[in-house]
Amino acid sequence: MCEFPTEIITEGLADIVVPRLSAFITKPSDYAPSKAPVFYNPVMELNRDLAILSLGAFQKLVNRDLRVCEPLAGCGVRGIRIAREVDNVKEVVLNDISEDAVRLEKINVEKNRLTHSVFVENKDANIMLSNFGAPRKRFDYVDIDPFGSPMPYVDSALRATRRNGLIGLTATDLAPLCGVHPKACIRKYGGRPLRTEYCHELALRLLAGALARSASKYDLGIRILFSHSSEHYVRLYSSIDYGAKTADASLKELGYVLHCFACFHRETSTRMTRKEFCPECGNKMSMAGPLWLGKILDTNFVTMMVKECKSRALRQNRRIRKLLSLAKEEADAALTYYRIDRICDKLGLRMPSPRDVIAKLRILGYRVSSTHFEAQGIKTPAPVQAVKETIVALAQGE
Ligand SMILES: C[S@@+](CC[C@H](N)C(=O)[O-])C[C@H]1O[C@@H](n2cnc3c(N)ncnc32)[C@H](O)[C@@H]1O
Ligand SMILES: [Zn+2]
Repeated sequence: MCEFPTEIITEGLADIVVPRLSAFITKPSDYAPSKAPVFYNPVMELNRDLAILSLGAFQKLVNRDLRVCEPLAGCGVRGIRIAREVDNVKEVVLNDISEDAVRLEKINVEKNRLTHSVFVENKDANIMLSNFGAPRKRFDYVDIDPFGSPMPYVDSALRATRRNGLIGLTATDLAPLCGVHPKACIRKYGGRPLRTEYCHELALRLLAGALARSASKYDLGIRILFSHSSEHYVRLYSSIDYGAKTADASLKELGYVLHCFACFHRETSTRMTRKEFCPECGNKMSMAGPLWLGKILDTNFVTMMVKECKSRALRQNRRIRKLLSLAKEEADAALTYYRIDRICDKLGLRMPSPRDVIAKLRILGYRVSSTHFEAQGIKTPAPVQAVKETIVALAQGE
């Protein structure tokens, strides 16, 4: 058994032995998951639920048996849930560099009676994945859920994922990705971030862009089926497709976002053209990228996830349904979003409801949608001037 205090929790269909987090807190500011000898974060249940729904939808899409790998598994909750909750999963390989984690993973595999299909390894994630890089050894799904950036593991994950397979990536290093530490973002993701009000979308696009560039080295293209920004992380699910043309097509989706901090204007460019001045107000523009300008959500895939959700009794059902409904709404929407609260702050206005702003812009003939990224956010191709005029009119009671 374990040499530290534990408790049993239930997540999805799995009963999991985890460190008793309350035993590792010595002062109120302690972050219990990182104090415990083995990692378990209850807050990431939503992340894991969405992984179950994504893989469930992917299995229906490809209609084949699946082999799955979780190279940074902690207590094993994610991989064990996948084995129990996703149809046609024939094998799951859990791995962690920590001996304590691996001991707990083995206990949890036995507890859930999965010793016939879930196997545990105790290696560095890159070494473990490299052992599965040969053609018939590769996995259908590799889930990279690390501390911080997934980039140190992306190359070996790509090599260990079969063609027409799926990769899931979590990035919790939002300070670099959202532009608080731009140099770290350039080092890790090869793109410049920007501290804009829509930095969480840029974070996802920087991660996707880095994945596309890594994949292209192996003549692999990416197709993002689902992604989300929740709490302290961004997460994406991409299909990995083989062929030089597919890889070239992915690289064509890379580009830049130009942003004016004076007036909120933004535009995209596929070339690194340093446009000096904003076409709306004449101020100097800032640039993010290279990053992924392509789609970050696939309507059909999200619809399949909604179906998967209906057939399960997930604790966070309502929250997931709301997130998926917003994701569906914004799947084909404009790049980036305006934040009504930020515009009102800048203009010194009381804030109208996002619903009213959306309705009024639609009357003016613009396509508009809400966004899961931000409750006060709207996605629209309308020029910033039209968005501002609409907000001003509503704030003045018109
Ligand atoms: C964020 S936790 C994983 C959480 C888990 N995926 C979940 O859903 O609960 C990251 C894990 O990676 C492990 N780890 C860190 N560096 C590693 C490496 N180089 N190779 C393998 N595991 C590593 C840590 O021990 C930790 O358990
Ligand atoms: Zn401007």
